[in-house]
Amino acid sequence: MQVARTLPELRAATAALRARHGALALVPTMGALHAGHRALVLAAVASGAATVASIFVNPLQFGANEDLSRYPRDEDGDLAALRASGCALVWMPGVETMYPPGGATTIEPTGAAENWEGMARPGHFRGVATVCAKLFGQVRADRAYFGEKDWQQLQVVTRMAADLHLPLEIVPVETVRESDGLAMSSRNRFLSAEERGRAPLLYAAMTAAATELAAGADAAAPLAAARQSLTAAGFDVDYLALVDGPSLREIPRAAPDCRLIAAARLGTVRLLDNRGIG
Ligand code: PAF
Repeated sequence: MQVARTLPELRAATAALRARHGALALVPTMGALHAGHRALVLAAVASGAATVASIFVNPLQFGANEDLSRYPRDEDGDLAALRASGCALVWMPGVETMYPPGGATTIEPTGAAENWEGMARPGHFRGVATVCAKLFGQVRADRAYFGEKDWQQLQVVTRMAADLHLPLEIVPVETVRESDGLAMSSRNRFLSAEERGRAPLLYAAMTAAATELAAGADAAAPLAAARQSLTAAGFDVDYLALVDGPSLREIPRAAPDCRLIAAARLGTVRLLDNRGIG
């Protein structure tokens, strides 16, 4: 497995991989890798493409009140995990490579980016869309793999790639869960042992609501019951909503392609999750 830290190193390595393998697959990450990332890398490797993982903690997607310095970092562990998963190349640019002085262009996604995380974290999706467009341009992959765990991010990036006619396919990969249902996330490590014990209640409450929605219930009552049970368990629920999957527009009852999405704070950790209905 090679590691590239500069653009000339990346260009040389991707050219050699393309000559040898044909297709390139990209797995963009911010490091602190867990089994969810591993699933992305394994899906990319299984596609037969040479797999490039990027590790870059992107300052542009963190708000002023969000602690960028607190984001977990584990370069040695990440490189070992990527090597073990069959990754061919790791792209680890510095901030000065991604955002050189004089840079004057960002991407401002609208539509699916506007609500939910877009409201809770102003500017977040501008940061995500901008860094993904840069990574796509740098690596020139044929496909890029994104987890369904960050459902709204997946929709925003998919829409951006289509709107800008970017010559790559965005491939979604199912959320990987702990055995008790908690969705894997780099931020789970900040839960105390006691909070970690309660954290699976989020997915359990969503699953209970999904069962009623699948049976044709209007969304209001099952969602109110789920919010209430989470609040009683000490969660600070930011949102719990039934939406049209691609557009993220709220809908009153289950429909094809709908998604249940949630964000709730437990202590200092903001948990995000989503699931289909039925
Ligand atoms: O999901 C993430 O880790 C990040 O938002 C991404 C896609 C790597 C962009 O920085």
